[in-house]
Amino acid sequence: MSCCGNNCASGIDKFFSKEAARFLKRYKKKGLEKSQKNLFQGIQQTGISNQTILEIGCGVGYFHSQLIKAGAKKATGIDISKEMIGHAKNYMKEIGLDKRTDYHVGDFVEISEDIGSADITVLDKVICCYPDAEDLVEKSISRTKHVYAFTLPRDRWWIKYPIKLVVAVLKIFRSSFHPYFHEHSSIHSRLESGNFKMDYQNHVFFWETYVFIKN
Ligand SMILES: C[S@@+](CC[C@H](N)C(=O)[O-])C[C@H]1O[C@@H](n2cnc3c(N)ncnc32)[C@H](O)[C@@H]1O
Repeated sequence: MSCCGNNCASGIDKFFSKEAARFLKRYKKKGLEKSQKNLFQGIQQTGISNQTILEIGCGVGYFHSQLIKAGAKKATGIDISKEMIGHAKNYMKEIGLDKRTDYHVGDFVEISEDIGSADITVLDKVICCYPDAEDLVEKSISRTKHVYAFTLPRDRWWIKYPIKLVVAVLKIFRSSFHPYFHEHSSIHSRLESGNFKMDYQNHVFFWETYVFIKN
């Protein structure tokens, strides 16, 4: 079992399942957030035509639906939250992409061996929800043939230390879910030792987006 464990995974499921309907409603009303437009741009410039997508922590699936509409071949979405995946499946039917998408409910770190490789792997605001960034990143890199794209809270003191404070307070109250701040440099080192090189970096106020390409 990963260091997340059943309690941590069910905490993430409980927290995000309550948010699933709101995520989809917000997207239908407003489209991609600014940070997601950056992520999309960074991925698009690597060339997405006919590429396969693996989106870990895919939520209700709208991000990979946009990649498919822009030319990607198909997408696999994985999320710990059953409600997120339920909404993703319904939404893909609604927009006619159900034949080009498939989904798994579960902690990617636990189920990665059952998941095939993809050309492009996406983790949009996911690494910061998970305690063991090393394991999540390592296992997701191993499923990536070409492009690894992700968004994290920015590495600025006025973001990092308030997150650490929130974590400490939520731990005192034994909250079943809390965010994490993971050092960007250690994620970059893992990617670099897997032969990936940074191709794109951009930020909005809170979020930093990176796209790495395998040499
Ligand atoms: C902040 S939400 C972002 C959802 C989506 N990427 C978006 O931006 O709309 C983080 C999502 O990651 C999922 N998640 C976190 N850790 C995960 C893991 N180890 N495996 C699969 N899903 C995970 C959560 O359940 C949640 O739906």
